[in-house]
Amino acid sequence: MFSLLPLTALALLGSTLTSAADTCNGHAELCSRLYSNVTFIGAHDSYAVGDSIADNQDKDVTAQLNDGIRTLQLQAHNATDGVHLCHTSCSLQDGGLLEDYFKKVVSWISSNPNDVVTIVLTNPENLPVSTYSPILTSSGISQYLYQPSSSAIALSEWPTLGSLIDAKTNIVAFLDYQADFTTEPKLIDEFSNMWEDAFNVVDNSFGCNVNRTSGQASSQMYLINHYLDTSYSLGSTQFWIPNKDQVTTTNNGDSSTEQGTIGYHVNNCLQLWGRNPNHILLDFYDSNSNSPFNLAASLNGVSQPTNTVSVGSGATSSATGTSDSSSSGNGTTSSNGSTAKVSTSSLKSSALVSINLTNGLYLGLGVLSTFVFGVGKILL
Ligand SMILES: *[C@@H]1O[C@H](CO)[C@@H](O)[C@H](O)[C@H]1NC(C)=O
Ligand SMILES: *[C@@H]1O[C@H](CO)[C@@H](O)[C@H](O)[C@H]1NC(C)=O
Ligand SMILES: *[C@@H]1O[C@H](CO)[C@@H](O)[C@H](O)[C@H]1NC(C)=O
Ligand SMILES: *[C@@H]1O[C@H](CO)[C@@H](O)[C@H](O)[C@H]1NC(C)=O
Ligand SMILES: *[C@@H]1O[C@H](CO)[C@@H](O)[C@H](O)[C@H]1NC(C)=O
Ligand SMILES: *[C@@H]1O[C@H](CO)[C@@H](O)[C@H](O)[C@H]1NC(C)=O
Repeated sequence: MFSLLPLTALALLGSTLTSAADTCNGHAELCSRLYSNVTFIGAHDSYAVGDSIADNQDKDVTAQLNDGIRTLQLQAHNATDGVHLCHTSCSLQDGGLLEDYFKKVVSWISSNPNDVVTIVLTNPENLPVSTYSPILTSSGISQYLYQPSSSAIALSEWPTLGSLIDAKTNIVAFLDYQADFTTEPKLIDEFSNMWEDAFNVVDNSFGCNVNRTSGQASSQMYLINHYLDTSYSLGSTQFWIPNKDQVTTTNNGDSSTEQGTIGYHVNNCLQLWGRNPNHILLDFYDSNSNSPFNLAASLNGVSQPTNTVSVGSGATSSATGTSDSSSSGNGTTSSNGSTAKVSTSSLKSSALVSINLTNGLYLGLGVLSTFVFGVGKILL
């Protein structure tokens, strides 16, 4: 007579044998670690690559992932040909189609199956979640997305990195607004599972207070927005641009706890919350080579990564504005491509307040269009 016992034993043995991952995000120790108990370094506005004032990164997503970035923060905007990744407005910065970006992530993850990557998709236009589902499918990313069994997952209920990798669902995607578990369970409601501290701060004391959540902060994962901005006003429009002058202090991940560094921010968090942040978002994450990644390794209790992160030029170069000779006055401008260099320091002093529109000096066509179209707040 056939007994159930050997079958069960066999099934257990089978599941042990198929639990193949022996390295997870570069370390064997991380395979048995809950996803909710790992610190990842992330790229804020991952798609905004370049050296204009609306850019936050030096290298494209593939290079970011190769360097060790494991959290990709994105901002989606609706455009005529589909959902684009833009910064505040597509006239300001346009990082292309979300679908194309996802395809790059898919290509990377398919050749790096032992890594867990997180996507934090922000939805400032409150596009319905059904807008995204076809893009998840057409880009091929859907099959890699972790699908939880409920919309809110307790800290202790998150899978381990090893099980995400074994199941080949090693991309975890969050949506900040309009997530709907019934319609699209693979876009996880961010604020039911993770809170964030303040963003676009101009004060390098950072703090670590809850800024956005819809759950119980003490029992959620959390993301820190560790990038420093400088804020300007142009008429009634206020905008924030990355503070490039401070970036090497901001992105310092050495054991230093000097004010403004990553260690300083993490210490603020530890004092308030007693555990490390899950995601640390940076602008120009490569400004300090391996330093932020070494810090994450130390927070995770693993050895430092062995790859070398090359320092990009965007963090240290001046922002590029566009010198333009004509404007239609309705927000549409034409350019012949000549550029003017504007450094954060010069912006800080006077260039912006004395921006001379009759002279035709525009800090990027987009700033002007956005300004003319009356967007009151520009967050870069
Ligand atoms: C997105 O833009 C397209 C083209 O302008 C439009 O047809 C569609 O209704 C928009 N979708 C949403 C959700 O606003
Ligand atoms: C959240 O952060 C934004 C931007 O820094 C700030 O304007 C807002 O007041 C903060 N809200 C809370 C509740 O802390
Ligand atoms: C992981 O757990 C350890 C032990 O409780 C804790 O010290 C650490 O802060 C946790 N890290 C995260 C990101 O939760
Ligand atoms: C803006 O003005 C230009 C020139 O008058 C015109 O060609 C263009 O269609 C206008 N654009 C919009 C969005 O109204
Ligand atoms: C581009 O703009 C510059 C500066 O205004 C001007 O000297 C140049 O003639 C323009 N070139 C073209 C092709 O319009
Ligand atoms: C702006 O540029 C125009 C044309 O070059 C010049 O006449 C005017 O004095 C400038 N205004 C300021 C405030 O610099």
